[in-house]
Amino acid sequence: MRRSERLRSLVRETRLGPERLIYPIFVVAGRGLRREIASLPACFHLSPDEAAREAREVERLGIAGVLLFGLPEGKDATGSQGWSEDGVVPRAVRAIRDECKELLVVTDVCLCEYTSHGHCGVVEGGEVKNDPTLDLLAKMALAHARAGAHVVAPSDMMDGRVGAIRRALDAQGLGDVAVLSYAAKYASAFYGPFREAADSAPQFGDRRGYQMDPANVREALREVRLDVQEGADVVMVKPALPYLDVIRAVRETCDVPVAAYNVSGEYAMVKAAAQRGWIDEERVVKETLTAIARAGADIILTYHAKDFARWSG
Ligand code: PBG
Repeated sequence: MRRSERLRSLVRETRLGPERLIYPIFVVAGRGLRREIASLPACFHLSPDEAAREAREVERLGIAGVLLFGLPEGKDATGSQGWSEDGVVPRAVRAIRDECKELLVVTDVCLCEYTSHGHCGVVEGGEVKNDPTLDLLAKMALAHARAGAHVVAPSDMMDGRVGAIRRALDAQGLGDVAVLSYAAKYASAFYGPFREAADSAPQFGDRRGYQMDPANVREALREVRLDVQEGADVVMVKPALPYLDVIRAVRETCDVPVAAYNVSGEYAMVKAAAQRGWIDEERVVKETLTAIARAGADIILTYHAKDFARWSG
C-alpha cells in the first residue's frame, strides 16, 4: 500500500517539469493580431509583437523555449518568404529575443508553409526534388539564426539537410546555433489540425514520399543515425503518443538528447473530448506527457505546455 503522496513521490520513477517542454507558436504578419486557431483551441495566430508577449508569459511559466512557425503574406513555388531575412519568423525571433532573456528560441525550418503547392521541397515536373531543396533550407536556417534563433529545427525530411544546414551555419560563424532534427517524422494523419493552422496542406499528392511509413521502426533508427552523423545536436520523434516504442528505441540506441513532438492531432483530440466533459483534461495531459517522458524523451514539444506548467506550478 502506498497511501501517502510523500511515499509515492519518493519512489516515483519519472519526473517531468516545464523546463523540459517547448511551446509551439504560429506567427503571422502585422501588428496587434491575436486570433484563436479553430483547429487548435487556446492556441493563436500571433503577429510578431504579440508573439513576443506570449513568449514572455511562456518564459514566466518556466517553460524552456518556444518553437516558431510562420504564415507568410504570400506564397510562391520556391517559398521565397520562408528564406527572406525579413520574413515573419525572423521578425518574431528579433522581437522575442528583445523581450526574453532566458527563453530558448527554436525555429521550424520547412518550406511547406511558404510554397504555393504546399510541399516541403522544390517541385519539378510534379515531384518533390531533394537536392535543389537543400540550398533553400540552408538559407532559411541562416535567416533564422542571424535573427537570433538559438536552435533551428528542420522538419522537411529531405535527405542531407542536417549536414547542409550545419555547414552553412558554421561557414557564417554561427557555430553555436544548434540543430534539432525532426529525424523520425512519420507520414501521419495526426498533423491535420496543424495543416489547417499553418495553411500547409499539400495541394496535390501527399508527403509519404519523404515522411516515414508508420509501420517502420528500424528505418527510424537509420534516419536518426544519419542525422547524428551529419551533426544533429538533438533528434526528434514525431508524433509522440502513437510512437512511444520508437522514442524508446531511439533513446536506447543513440546518445544525443531525444525530443518528442506531441502533435496537433494529439492535442486536438484531448481538447475536443475535454470540452465535451468526456475526460478530465488535467489528468489526461499529465498522464500523456509523463508517458512520453517515461518512453525516453528528454524534451517534449507540446501545445499543452502552458497548461501543464500552470498545473504543476
Ligand atoms: C512542417 C511541419 C508539420 C508539423 C510540424 N512541422 C506538418 C507536416 O509535416 O505536414 C506538424 C506539427 C503538428 O501537427 O503539430 N513540415
